[in-house]
Amino acid sequence: MQSSPLEQALNPFPFYRRMRESRPLFYRPEDETWQVFRYAEAEQVLNNSALFSSVRNRERGQERPLQNSILNMDPPQHRQFRSLVTQAFTPRAVAQLANRITSIVTHLLDEVTGSGTMDIIDHLAYPLPVIVIAELLGIPREDRALFKTWSDAVVNGVDGRGQNRPQPAMSDYFLQVIEERHKEPQDDLMSALLNAQVDGHHLSRQELLGFCILLLVAGNETTTNLIGNALLCLDEQPDSMEQLYAAPDLIPGAVEEVLRYRSPVQLTGRIALADTVLGNQHIQAGQRVVANIGSANRDEAQFPDPDRFDIRRSPNHHLAFGHGIHFCLGAPLARLETKIALTLLLERFQDIRRVPQVPLEPGESILMHGVKHLPVTFRQR
Ligand code: HEM
Repeated sequence: MQSSPLEQALNPFPFYRRMRESRPLFYRPEDETWQVFRYAEAEQVLNNSALFSSVRNRERGQERPLQNSILNMDPPQHRQFRSLVTQAFTPRAVAQLANRITSIVTHLLDEVTGSGTMDIIDHLAYPLPVIVIAELLGIPREDRALFKTWSDAVVNGVDGRGQNRPQPAMSDYFLQVIEERHKEPQDDLMSALLNAQVDGHHLSRQELLGFCILLLVAGNETTTNLIGNALLCLDEQPDSMEQLYAAPDLIPGAVEEVLRYRSPVQLTGRIALADTVLGNQHIQAGQRVVANIGSANRDEAQFPDPDRFDIRRSPNHHLAFGHGIHFCLGAPLARLETKIALTLLLERFQDIRRVPQVPLEPGESILMHGVKHLPVTFRQR
C-alpha cells in the first residue's frame, strides 16, 4: 500500500525493508544515483574513501559555501584539515563541558517546570545545541540572540536550492571574533583552532570561518533531532522509559539505540571514482552512491530483531554517525548533550507523555529524520 509523503517521512522503515529485500542496490538513471539500503554495502561505501569520494557537489556546478568544508574533502587534504580541527575538538575538551551543559539544561527546564507542559523541541532540543556551540566558539552571551538568528538562517537554508550563502553579517561577525582571539587568545574553541597546526600549516581565516559555519549546520538540527527522537521512542515504549527511571545508568545505551532506531541523519552521498562492483552490481565511475544510513541501521543481517527498540542492545554498531574517515567529529558532544538532557528530564519530571491530539509533523529536510514539535505533559517529581 502506498503511504503519503508525510507518513513516509515519519515512518520510512517499511519502505526500507521492502527495498533491502527486493532491490538492495537501486539505480535511478534520472539522477545517475545508486541507492544503497543494506548495512554491508553502506559500510563499504563509507569505509572506502579511495573509491567513493566525498567531493560531491562540484561537477553539479552548485556554489555552496560548505562545498569546501571537511565534509566534502578527500584524502590527503581531508587528513590534514581533520587533524587540525581534532586538536581543538577532542573528546576530553568535550567532556569538560559537562557542567556547562548541565546548567544550560537546568535553566531550560526551569523555564517550563511549573506549567506541567512543554514542547520538547522548542524548549529543550532546539535551543540546547545552539547555546552549546555558541559557548564553545566563545560567542559573548549578549550576542547569543543574534547568533541564534544566523544559525537558524544557515540551517534552514541548507536544503533550499543552494541558497545557503552565509549571511555577510554573520561572516563579518565571525571574522571579527577570529581577529579578537588572534590578538588575545581565550580558553575557547576558536582560540584553540587558531593555534592548531599540522605540517606547519595553520587554518586560514576563510577556512576557520567555513568550519564555524559547518559546526552550525552539522551540529544543531542533528542534535535537536536526536533529543526529540529519544523522547519519541520512549513515549512509544513506556517500558523502556520505566527502565530508565529505575536505572539511569542505562541512558547512554538508550541513546545509542535511538541513534540506530531513529537515525537523525538518514543518508549521505558519495561519488564513485572508478568502475567497481558493489553487492553484485556494476557501479560506473562518476555515478552517485547514496548510503541510506537509516535503512542500514534496521538491517536484519546486522541487527537481530531490528524493528525492536532495545535499550540494552549489544553489540550496537550503528552507522548513525557515519563510518571511516568522515566519522562524525561531534559524536562525543551530541552524545553528552543528549545524555544530560535525558538524565535531567527524568530526574525532574515524571509521567512524561506526548500530547496525542497534536499530530506529528516531520522536519523539512529529506536528509534528516525528526519532528518539528513534540508537546508533552508531565508532573514534577
Ligand atoms: C560528520 C551525523 C552531531 C560535526 C557527520 C557524519 C554523520 C554525522 C552521519 C558523516 C557524514 C558523511 O560521512 O558524509 C551526526 C549526528 C549528530 C551529529 C547524527 C547528532 C546526533 C554533530 C555535532 C557536531 C558535528 C554536534 C559539531 C558540533 C560534524 C563534522 C563532520 C560530521 C565536523 C565532518 C567530519 C569529517 O568530514 O571528517 N556527522 N552528527 N556533528 N559531523 Fe556530525
